[in-house]
Amino acid sequence: MAFTVAIDGPAAAGKGTVARAVARHFGFAHLDTGLLYRATGRRTLDGTDPVSAAEALRAEDLEADDLRTPDVAQAASRVAAVPEVRRALLDFQRAFARREGGAVLDGRDIGTVICPDAEVKLFVTATDDVRATRRLKELRENGFKTDFDEVLADLRARDARDSARAAAPLKPADDAVLLDTSQMDIDTAVDRAIAEVARRLR
Ligand code: DC
Repeated sequence: MAFTVAIDGPAAAGKGTVARAVARHFGFAHLDTGLLYRATGRRTLDGTDPVSAAEALRAEDLEADDLRTPDVAQAASRVAAVPEVRRALLDFQRAFARREGGAVLDGRDIGTVICPDAEVKLFVTATDDVRATRRLKELRENGFKTDFDEVLADLRARDARDSARAAAPLKPADDAVLLDTSQMDIDTAVDRAIAEVARRLR
């Protein structure tokens, strides 16, 4: 059985945590599609052309341990605005989405472009301040020296670029269920997401 859960939203809204938990609960496979753009962006930092970088991507590139840095995040957002880069990554994502046994994909354009027919679509958001607070904690835990204002500016720059680009901009699909996690702890957000999937599976 193929069954796709599409989870989109801006940076650090909690979609990755929700996606992993939903996948674990239902035994579905999970793809963090941001990693495709991060791995592509990372390759461009040494001067590789973005389209060649996307075309040459291999599964093991997604496991590199330096994909979570702020520099790579910005590079990912820049390459993600290039239509040929997005095209090079499309088939892999669509095949993953329709694999046997169910799949959860999280990103920016899963419900709108990659899987417009996904059985469940969620759009996870939170206020800028809440997202920056969460990302700051995560970066500090991983040893990065940064502060709230820098993280907030970084998120806003990325969201502005991701939302304003012509190719597959960040926006909720018309039929997406909105999950605002600003005032919600992560367990509540996960429970809501699981309930949506369970409703559709019945
Ligand atoms: O989800 P993330 O923060 O790891 O994503 C990094 C960047 O990749 C993000 O700023 C925009 C881009 N991206 C995208 O354009 N489309 C996706 N489906 C996932 C990520």
